[in-house]
Amino acid sequence: MKHLIDPTDLSVSEIDSILNLALDIIDDKDKYSEACKGKKLATLFFEPSTRTRLSFEAAMMELGGNVLGFSSADSSSATKGESVGDTVKVVSCYADIIAMRHPKEGAPMYGAMVSDVPVINAGDGGHNHPTQTLTDLLTIKREKGRLDNFTIGLCGDLKFGRTVHSLIKALSRYENIKFILISPKELRVPEYIISEVFEKNNIEYKEVRTMEEVMSELDIIYMTRVQKERFFNEADYVRLKDTYILDMDKLKTAKKDLSILHPLPRVNEISISVDNDPRACYFRQAMNGKFVRMALMLTLLKDNNCKLNLPEDKLAKIGKMGGAD
Ligand code: CP
Repeated sequence: MKHLIDPTDLSVSEIDSILNLALDIIDDKDKYSEACKGKKLATLFFEPSTRTRLSFEAAMMELGGNVLGFSSADSSSATKGESVGDTVKVVSCYADIIAMRHPKEGAPMYGAMVSDVPVINAGDGGHNHPTQTLTDLLTIKREKGRLDNFTIGLCGDLKFGRTVHSLIKALSRYENIKFILISPKELRVPEYIISEVFEKNNIEYKEVRTMEEVMSELDIIYMTRVQKERFFNEADYVRLKDTYILDMDKLKTAKKDLSILHPLPRVNEISISVDNDPRACYFRQAMNGKFVRMALMLTLLKDNNCKLNLPEDKLAKIGKMGGAD
């Protein structure tokens, strides 16, 4: 059974197929409105979320299915000491597909090992967030018309930022992407990303400390929040939290067709004065998250031999899993 735990669980051809399906859903929503009639999504969120949980739930509702689940560990039997494995095993008796977020790295992978239905990692600690990556890729594809040949600046908390780690892993498989890593030295991207992704694959990258020194080079800037919840002490968080604030002044040297992305939530790393600039893509990005999660769930359910309520021409648009690059 196919799950989605790490962005590299999907080949480039599988990613392209999910993005193309999402684009078809955007163009032809009504045709998909009963695709998951009788199907259930369980959202197991042991950590807070607005976008990921609600976009998964909206996605299943817009496919005609139902949702069940919990939005914090406090309202589940985890508080009584139940293990992640037992929780997932039990919920897989009640639902056709599971989306799971957990503060511990590897928890969704463990869940997938015992589940009888597909498990989707909706964020595990500071590790991975593959459905945010699909959201980011769909946004780049819609904004730029391509997933290759650009320079992307990743700015902020590159150490704990799971969205950044997943996006680097996915984008590094496309042609001619240049990465500029903008962070204070305390929040540099982990060493395994440098050695296992950039150096191993001969991918061009550089590390800088300010966004001003590279702004004019960027086709995309991907801003991230300094995440209070990942710090071990408050003093470090307070010292680093306002390192980067993108405002209209800093955009003076930016390209006219720069795309500004942010997985959200934002605290103050993008000034609200930027929101009305046409280059600000982050709210469109949040909307794309729902469509790409619709496409992902259809793909995993079809792969798991679930009967989908779709006409033949739409069923044919759902790609097979296990496709080679
Ligand atoms: N982007 C993202 O994961 O947001 P939430 O934490 O609100 O789900």
